[in-house]
This record gives sequence, C-alpha cells and structure tokens, in this order.
Amino acid sequence: MIEFVTSSRLFNLHTNHTTYQFLIDPNGFLLHTYYGRRCSGESFGHLLRQADRGFSPNPREVDRDRTFSLDTQPQEFPSVGVGDFRAPVLEVENADGSCAADLRYVSHTIRPGKYGLDGLPAFYGDEKEADTLEVVLRDPWTGLEATLYYGVFPQLDLITRAVSFRNGGDQPVALTRAMSACLELGRMELDLITFDGSHTGERHPCRQRVRPGLQQISSIRGITSHQHNNFVVLCQPDAGEKHGLCYGMALVYSGNFEANVEQDQFENVRLTMGISPWHFRFLLAPGETFTAPEVAMTYSHYGLEAMSQTFHRAIRHNLCRGWWKTRRRPVLLNTWEAAYFDFDQQKLLEIASSAAETGVELLVLDDGWFGERNDDYEGLGDWFVNPKKLPDGLTFLAEQVNALGMDFGIWIEPEMVSEKSRLYQEHPDWALQIPGRPSTRGRSQLVLDFSREEVWRGVYAQIKKVLESANIAYVKWDMNRSLTDVWSAALPPERQGELYHRYVLGVYAMLEQMISDFPKLLVEGCCGGGGRFDCGMLYYTPQIWASDNTDAMDRLLLQYGTSFCYPTSAVGSHVSAVPNEQTGRSTPLHTRAIVAMSGTFGYELDPRGLSQPERKQMRAQIEDFKRYYHLLQEGDYARLTDPFRNREFTAWQHTARDRSEALVSVVTTMARSNAPFCTVYPRGLDPDALYQVEGGGSFRGDTLMYGGIPLPQGGGDYQSWQFHLKKI
Ligand code: DGJ
Repeated sequence: MIEFVTSSRLFNLHTNHTTYQFLIDPNGFLLHTYYGRRCSGESFGHLLRQADRGFSPNPREVDRDRTFSLDTQPQEFPSVGVGDFRAPVLEVENADGSCAADLRYVSHTIRPGKYGLDGLPAFYGDEKEADTLEVVLRDPWTGLEATLYYGVFPQLDLITRAVSFRNGGDQPVALTRAMSACLELGRMELDLITFDGSHTGERHPCRQRVRPGLQQISSIRGITSHQHNNFVVLCQPDAGEKHGLCYGMALVYSGNFEANVEQDQFENVRLTMGISPWHFRFLLAPGETFTAPEVAMTYSHYGLEAMSQTFHRAIRHNLCRGWWKTRRRPVLLNTWEAAYFDFDQQKLLEIASSAAETGVELLVLDDGWFGERNDDYEGLGDWFVNPKKLPDGLTFLAEQVNALGMDFGIWIEPEMVSEKSRLYQEHPDWALQIPGRPSTRGRSQLVLDFSREEVWRGVYAQIKKVLESANIAYVKWDMNRSLTDVWSAALPPERQGELYHRYVLGVYAMLEQMISDFPKLLVEGCCGGGGRFDCGMLYYTPQIWASDNTDAMDRLLLQYGTSFCYPTSAVGSHVSAVPNEQTGRSTPLHTRAIVAMSGTFGYELDPRGLSQPERKQMRAQIEDFKRYYHLLQEGDYARLTDPFRNREFTAWQHTARDRSEALVSVVTTMARSNAPFCTVYPRGLDPDALYQVEGGGSFRGDTLMYGGIPLPQGGGDYQSWQFHLKKI
C-alpha cells in the first residue's frame, strides 16, 4: 500500500511487515526517513536532525542557516555537484561542461499494479499484488528530469525501484553515472555480506563489518560475473538465520554493475546500486530518455532466512514467467561431461536409450552439434547442424529421442563468434573489435555486437530455423567470456559509452523474441556456469546453470551462497561422474543426487558407463526427486548449517508452506575417528503436530525441532541422508 500524506508531504510505502518512508522537504529535496519494521505511517521527520558541520555546504534557499546540508541529510536520490560528497547515484556532463544536477520534487502519481520497464527485466504484479509510485524530480537549470519508480508488493514484503532520466532541456546532457537506487540506513552498526568467487567457485558469502569510507563490489566484464554477484545484504553484526535485522538488495540486470556501501563522517550508512559507471556515458539529446535497471529490496526483522525466503517467493512468482514458471521441469541428462565434443549420431543414440531406461525425461545435446565445431577454437556463429557428426540431422535425432519417451534439447551460444566460422567470414564487423587494434580473444572466441539489432536478429534467424526444424523442447543459452574491445561500428565516438548497456539490451531483446516465438521452450541460462546468475536473466530463463563445478562438496558451498537470494527452482544442478572432472574428488552417487536435488536436478554423465546397481539407484533418485518436487521447488528453504563453519556436516531443509511436510537434507563433509554424535535440528515445523519420519518412527514437531534428529555414525566422508517428515 502506498500513501501520500499531504499535510507532511510524506510517502509511506507499506508492505505487510515493513514500512519505507521519505518526505519532500520545503525546498523540494527528497529526504529518506525510514525503512524497517511496519509502522503506522506517522512521520519520522523528527529524526532529521541538523547541525552546522564544517565543510558541509548549504543550498542557497536556507540563506544564513548553515545547519542544512545535502552532505549530512539522508537523501532518497541524491543530487550531484551541489553539496553531497558521499557515494553518488548520478554524474552528469552538461552542455557547458559543468557536472551539477540539482534534483527537486515536481510531481508524483500513485496507481494500482506494478510498473514495467521497456526492454528491461522487472518484477511484475497485477493490481491485487502491487502498487506503483512515480516521483518526478527536475533540475531547474538544465531541465534534466529523473522519474523514480517504486513498486510495492505488500504480501511479499518486497519493494522495487528503478529510475528513468529524460533530458527536458534544450541542450544535450551526458549521464556518466546513472545508478538505480540509494538506500540511506542512518547510523547503524552493520555487516555487509557479498557473494564472491571465481569461475567454478561462484557466490561464496563474504561477511565483513561496514567501516568508515567506501566498500565496493562491481563487475566491468560486461556480465554480472563469477567474481561478484549483484546481490548484497546489510545486517546487524549479530544477525543470524533466525534473528537480527537485515536488508537485501538485488539488481535486476545482467551487465556491468556496482554496489557501494559508504559509512560517512557521522557513521551513517548509504547503499547504492546500479550499472557500473566504468566506461558508461549515455548521451541524452533533448527529449531523449535513459532507464536504469530495477533493484529489488526487502527488510527482515527476523534474520537472513526470512530475507532469503522473500526473494525466493518473489523470484518464483513475480519474476520468472511463462509456461515453465510453475510446471515441473523435466529431469535432464546433459551430454557435456558425458562426451564433450567427442560424439556422433550413434553415440548419442546409445546415450539416449541408456538414459531413457533410467527415467531421464530430457536429453540435452550440449556444445559441438553445429558448424565445424570439433573443439572450442571454431564454429561459433554457424548455427546449422554438422552433417559429419549428425548425418540425419536434428530432426531425426529429436524423433529418436522422443520415441524413447524423452524430450530433446540443444546448447547454443548466440552472443559469440569464432574467427573460424562462416559467420565471421561474412560479417567480420559484427564482432566487438576496435579498428586498428588486434582483438583480445577469450576461450578463443570473439563477442558479437548485440547492441546492433541486425546482429542479434541475424543470429536469431539461424537459431529460429533450427528450433523450427526439429522438436526442440529446451535450449541452454551459454556465454563463455568477458567483454573486451568494446567498440561498435554502429555508434559514433560520443556514444561508445552506451555500448555495454546496449549490448545487454540486445541480449534481452533476443531472449524476449525467442520466448515469445517459442512460448513452451524451456530456456536455461548459463555463462560458463554461474557468470550471469542474476535476477535479470531469471526474467527470461527460469533456471540457470549454477556453476561449471559439479563436485558435490564444492556445490554445497556455492549452492549455500546462491540460496541467500535465489530459489532452488532457479539453480541448475546435476549429478556428474566420479572422480569429479573439476576437483578429482569421489563422492557417493547418493550424495551427488541429494546435492543436485537442491536445484533443478539432472545428470551430466555417460549413463552407459554405470553399473546395474548404479542405474537402479539413478532410477530411484529420479523417482525421489519427482516425489519431493513440490517441496524442493515450492517449499520454504532454510539453511540449517553454514558449510564454511561446520566442518562435520551440511544440512538444509525444504518445508511446505502449511508445515504439513518437510525434507531435511544432510551431507557429512568430514568423517572423524571416535567422533562425537551429530544432531540436525529441523526448523519451521508445527510444534504441536505429529510427524512421521519416513522409515524412522513418528515424533511431535517440538521434539524434532528442539531435540533434533540424530545422525547415523560412521560410514566415512561424504555420507548423506534425506529425512522426509510428514504430518499425520
Ligand atoms: C560452459 C558451460 O557452463 C558448460 O556446461 C558447457 O555447456 C560448455 N560451456 C560448452 O562449451
């Protein structure tokens, strides 16, 4: 619910459990007053205290009163160049070379339903689910306007924000920083949690105390990156899973980004998030607009678990779209780790029939089916079948796979081109390259200039033909390098700073085209694993391959980190062969399956090599996954242990929203000699109800939660259990 209190010129954005408040001060500055636990809506304006602070300048209107300064007031969307020296959200180059933008309130509108953003992903909600507030600000001297968008989802406790800028003046203006949101949290002792890592080790939580000055994470790779996720948490230093105050903020975007946390001279904390200003310069001719992507944020008074569950629900129900949003996704077998580039039709048919016998529902043909793609040095861009490997084409292959009772899917990497390809021979200028400079290769490939419509449409035309040529139910959209040599033949020099963003818009445009042409197609995002695991992609692809690391023990760590924002239903996760290709570690098949089930679940191995008992186990795992699907994909997720701290075992839980059923998953991470007994403590059960523990007696919810479930002893490293609890 959104209200405007005319007497105090105050906005209240209420969700069921939170209130967000800001006001318009007498000079038209928007000052932020509160974000936290739900309140009546009475003004928090009395907390806006003022004092004469040295070196903090004063706007003209306050005349001789030196106590008001933009440098010390909590601001909703700070102006730039006129007195605030903290982390900016906006930087401009005006026509006269000056860099000031003094944004003052002009007007606002409140309407039912959630705003949308043209060409950009965004959470959505109808009139029953969400409301929109738009506030227009204007710099009276240049005419630059900023429209702040707020989407309020009461049931979800979620607030989204975005900003669009319009040059309402008669001179050009360039935006050199245009971030999406500023959140002022006042004087609070806080921890910052970011999700960092590397290729094959994505989204490991890193928790540090907020300290004076700036703490920043960013990506300038053109993608969200394996190194830093565009989701951050600020929480009380003693906040844990079930207690303590926390704020989470996620950027709904898949390109360069920056998140800044600044503790200022008076220990007030500001968080800003949006597109990275690095090599960003968006020129606005008079009348032109630029829209900065959305952020989604939530506040939890009851710890990290509630914060995560808010994001999980919102992503599942108000970000993911289309046919597969709520349908059970098929259990797939992907050929990558089964065969890499080494396959032909015969081998694929054998893999397919072997997979079908175990209950696999979808066979995915990964890299290598097209062009002259026999290794990762060539072929990208040539999206037509390789007749040497597949003499009867994809149509035949899909038919054969369908005849075995499975769906069929393929891998593509539309944004890339190999220099050894027909596409590159025909259109060398379609690749991002700087004239007169040798281009930098990544995985021996170049990036196509997706900022140009003719480029992504040219690639899409080929891919569309393929999708129409056979019964293809699934596509894995991969992307395997960072952007370099970022220069477009289609943009004048003064607009090259728009390229990174226009590239992302091109990716979104092609994705949108594809899912609207093939509405039942299941598209899985991928970026060398989890390099583009973000809310932006989840608007188009309801699941994303979480990492190129399929080792079950490493997956415990990265799936734990991923769960802080993203739901199980989004996390592409497969059982692979042992010893694991990435780590060389061997873990039991049972454990690999339990870990992969906390994701979309599938296999990444050659089933022909499995023994009969293993194949039997695989069949049982697929049945278990289907049996528990409603819990795994729709249930509330809880992290029962922190795998970075607990060296003995890792545990997590999926619970039905009505608490009638739960699945507790446990993996021992290190066996010890003469070890103490271990106990796992489920959460969120009905304390008064009786639960049947499958294969292990019945207990009251309170007995299970407060006394715990004893874990079996021994068995060595990497043992695992699933405890299914059902109310009786
Ligand atoms: C990177 C992906 O993450 C892998 O799963 C696989 O699809 C390869 N690319 C294929 O080149």
